Amino acid sequence: MARITASVYTSHVPAIGAAMDLGKTQEPYWQKVFSGYDFSREWVKRNRPDVVFLVYNDHATAFSLDIIPTFAIGTAAEYAIADEGWGPRPVPKVIGHPELASHIAQSVIQDDFDLTIVNKMDVDHGLTVPLSLLFGQTEAWPCKVIPFAVNVVQYPVPSGRRCFELGKAIRKAIESFDENLNVQIWGTGGMSHQLQGPRAGLINKDWDNRFLDRLIAEPEALAQVPHIEYVREAGSEGIELVMWLIARGAMSDITGAKAPTVAHRFYHVPASNTAVGHMILENA
Ligand code: DHB
Ligand code: FE
Repeated sequence: MARITASVYTSHVPAIGAAMDLGKTQEPYWQKVFSGYDFSREWVKRNRPDVVFLVYNDHATAFSLDIIPTFAIGTAAEYAIADEGWGPRPVPKVIGHPELASHIAQSVIQDDFDLTIVNKMDVDHGLTVPLSLLFGQTEAWPCKVIPFAVNVVQYPVPSGRRCFELGKAIRKAIESFDENLNVQIWGTGGMSHQLQGPRAGLINKDWDNRFLDRLIAEPEALAQVPHIEYVREAGSEGIELVMWLIARGAMSDITGAKAPTVAHRFYHVPASNTAVGHMILENA
């Protein structure tokens, strides 16, 4: 059977991708950001996934304001890199896993979560920056990826509670797929940041670190936090953090197994306008 072995959480700041693409990772400003991923790049070599189920948000790239799916699962064989205005990032195309993705869609929709099925889409920095951070610069991504896009851009956005419950349904779906696959689930976006309006530049270190503490130790209670608190405390784009609850809800302790191991935890301010958070949890 397929198994979820670990969850990975990381911010997806587009300037991080640009720093890698333009060879700036050794500059002091960026070195501090990338140092938080040295462990992770070694870890992911030792714990190579067959498939990454990658929860991210599209930033009005593949989906315009014409169509706004709350939850969208990518069932395609491959995904092109989006042009976000400066040309597509020079990174490999993303190879999907249509069989597993279709199986997950079947199971999760039958569990009453109304997913949008996406057979063609380009993937933006929300998906490619996390891949770059963990896998570095490479000719081909070393695993298959199932993109799972969550609307956190246009209100109404899904609640943390619903995201957490969805994570449980995703684990049930993945672990009923009849093939021996090592699957990781990644929750991306965040941490505190606000890109617009009078509070642009908002960062809240205390709130972010408490979020990390609670994500580890009391995710069920954390999932009850209403979206207004994310926006008030972590800024308008801090709402991206609800996506981390999908990955956390997919860990085995949620249904009774032992608590996960915290393999790595990192927090740094700033990268561009954003507080960077990163964590790896391994299932017991
Ligand atoms: C920034 C962060 C984001 O999450 C994003 O989607 C775009 C920009 C930033 O910090 O600049
Ligand atoms: Fe973002």
